[in-house]
Parts: sequence; structure tokens; C-alpha cells
Amino acid sequence: MNMPTTSTSTRPLVWTKRISQVPKEVFVSESLFEEELRTIFYGDCWHVVAHEGELPEVGDFKTFELGRMPLLIVRGKDRQVRVFLNSCTHRGTQVETASCGNRTEFECPYHRWLFGLEGDLVGCPGSKEFSPEFQKEDYDLKEVRVGVHLGLVFVTLGKATPPLEDWIGAPIMEPLSVVLGGDGRLKLLGYQKVRYAVNWKAYNDNDGYHAPLLHTGFRLLNWQGGQGAQYMTENGHACIVAQLKPIQHSGFLKDTSLITFKGQNPEKGSCVVQLFPCSVVVKHLDVINLRFAIARSHDVTEVHYAYFAHVDDSEDMVRHRLRQSSNLLGPCGMVTMEDAAIFQRIHIGSYTPGQAEFQKGVTGGDQPSFDVKQNDETGQLPKWEHYRKLMGFQREA
Ligand code: FES
Ligand SMILES: [Fe+2]
Repeated sequence: MNMPTTSTSTRPLVWTKRISQVPKEVFVSESLFEEELRTIFYGDCWHVVAHEGELPEVGDFKTFELGRMPLLIVRGKDRQVRVFLNSCTHRGTQVETASCGNRTEFECPYHRWLFGLEGDLVGCPGSKEFSPEFQKEDYDLKEVRVGVHLGLVFVTLGKATPPLEDWIGAPIMEPLSVVLGGDGRLKLLGYQKVRYAVNWKAYNDNDGYHAPLLHTGFRLLNWQGGQGAQYMTENGHACIVAQLKPIQHSGFLKDTSLITFKGQNPEKGSCVVQLFPCSVVVKHLDVINLRFAIARSHDVTEVHYAYFAHVDDSEDMVRHRLRQSSNLLGPCGMVTMEDAAIFQRIHIGSYTPGQAEFQKGVTGGDQPSFDVKQNDETGQLPKWEHYRKLMGFQREA
């Protein structure tokens, strides 16, 4: 399929007076992406890069990228999880290339500088002939500011980023704890990794309105959600919490144990938390799914779907979660597989002029409403307003 990859003009992007319109150009502008890297991804925001459950043992590590910034996430000998820039302090070479694993130290292959699990430079061949100013302790791996909430590991590169708990905000705390098993003591089950041909904002602009309309699986299973609510914050987070009603079997599945809910709290059986800018944490039935997104470019978003059990789960429950995780959600999940196709079509369609329109639940006015119903599109609008202000775009007078 031929598709353009670059937009020619960037600023001024036209944001109309209507709060419910977003200029489509924000999804396709290459130079805007560079601005977003500076302002959002390397700026004063927190970003989810891991959960401690992915790194249970001393020496466990994971690599990740924040935009283009390579990160190395390591559990040290003191059991603390630290995040470093994955770049050798000698000439800048990427130190670790594996996506995850366990090591006792990290060796840069270029001149064999060796770093400990706490990022300390422990060896550098030929140092007797280094410059007179060379002090080993000046060359530890560069550590990044980290915040941890219920095991979720956040990083920020900004200098003025507020404390993590303030940034998450009160309305989001409770649903976050529902997803994270109450206490955040999670055990990794595995990953699915996918590259979507879409801008990170369109990936994240995923409302509850679309689910029963787009996803055939919902209809085939006759999957009716129950009562729910949507919460948003001024700083761009949003979540939907909904009841799980008993499944009304349609006969489509011979073995309905796949969609059985074994959890304790059906009132909050479905919970999707979108953390600005592009992290998503989800609990649906008994699936615990953290989505670590990497904004690779203006037209590629890579998402690592990590699935978890709770550390106190029985063997039977772990097997049940594994089965649901690998069959229901994610890029090949029975009930969400259409998302990848729709993301790509949003991206292709966004090369046309004009505005993306929000309608469901929109009541007018020039401020986003925080009083929305469970599946209103308007739940996405506070995030867009936060994005617009953060990026410094004005609305038309
Ligand atoms: S660049 Fe890493 S040891 Fe030289
Ligand atoms: Fe979807």
C-alpha cells in the first residue's frame, strides 16, 4: 500500500474554537513529532517504563526507549530498581542491546568499560594512560529520576516535573490500584510486542465508544458491559471503570471458561487507565495488562503488552490468567484485534485536511467537560486540551 510518510507544513496548526475538534495534522506532522520529543517525552512529564514485577531478581534488567532515548532498567544488589541512560559514559555507545535478562554487570563492547548493577564504573582497561583529570567515579552510568507507584516504574527527564503522586492525581489512584491487584505485587506472565503504523496520539485516543461498534468479538460473544463511569484529570489522564455483567452466552464459544471472571470485584471488573501521554494499564476480566508505548516516529508507535498475575495467585489462577491474556486482549486478541487495522486507517485518513471530530457526549462550550458518561467520546477531550496547552497551540479567536 502506498502511503505518504511526511507532512510538509507544521505550524501554525489551526485549532478551531470548538473544543471538540482536533486538527488532523497533529497526527502526521514529522516536525511536530520532534517538538513533542522535547516538550513531552524529554520534558516535565512522568512516563511508565516498567513494572517491578518484570525484574524480580537482583541483576534482572530491561531495556526500553523513551522516544529515542535508550534506557536501561536494572534491579541492583540492594534490590532497588534504577533507570540509567543506556549509553556508555566513554564515547556514548549503547551498552545493553538485549530486551531483558539477568547480568552481574554490563560491559560496553567498544573499549570494555564495565558497569556494576548500580551503574558504577567498575573497570576501564588502559586507565593508567587516561587524561590526568580522569576520575573513575565521574563516569558512572547517568541515572534518571525515577518514581514508583504500586510497582509501576515511572521516569522523567524534565527538571520541573512535579512529584509523581501529584502528577497521577487523586481520581486515578483508585482505578490504578484496581488494575494492579490492590497492592501492586505482580508477577510477569509474558509479552506481546507490536508496531502500529500510527501516530502515538491516535493510538492513545482510544475511547470506550468504539468497542461494541468496531469489535466483532464483542457482538459474537454478546458481551454486554454493565454500569460504569469515566474519570479524567486536568493533566491529561483518563480512565473508564465498568461492571462486568454475567455473560449471556451466544453459543459462539464451545468452552466459555475462556471468558469466565474469577476475580473478587465484578463491580470494577473492567478498568482502563490511560496515563498521559501514552501509557495504558488495563484490567479486563482477569487479565492484568500494562501497555508500555514507545513513540518511535510521527507514524510508528511500538507497544509492549506485558501481562501479569498476582504473586499470591494459585497455579490454577495463573493458568486462567495466561489463557485469557493470550486470547482476549492485545494485537491478536479475540475481542480487540481490529484495533491495529483501525489505527493504520486513522493514520492514512489523517493526511487529508481538516479536523477530527468528537461527537458522542459533546454538549458545547469552550471548556472540556469533566462530567461525562461511561462511553462518551468527550472523555478524551481534557487530554487533548492538556496536549494543546502543553505544546503551546492557540485556538482561533
Ligand atoms: S564507548 Fe564504551 S567503552 Fe568506549
Ligand atoms: Fe479497541
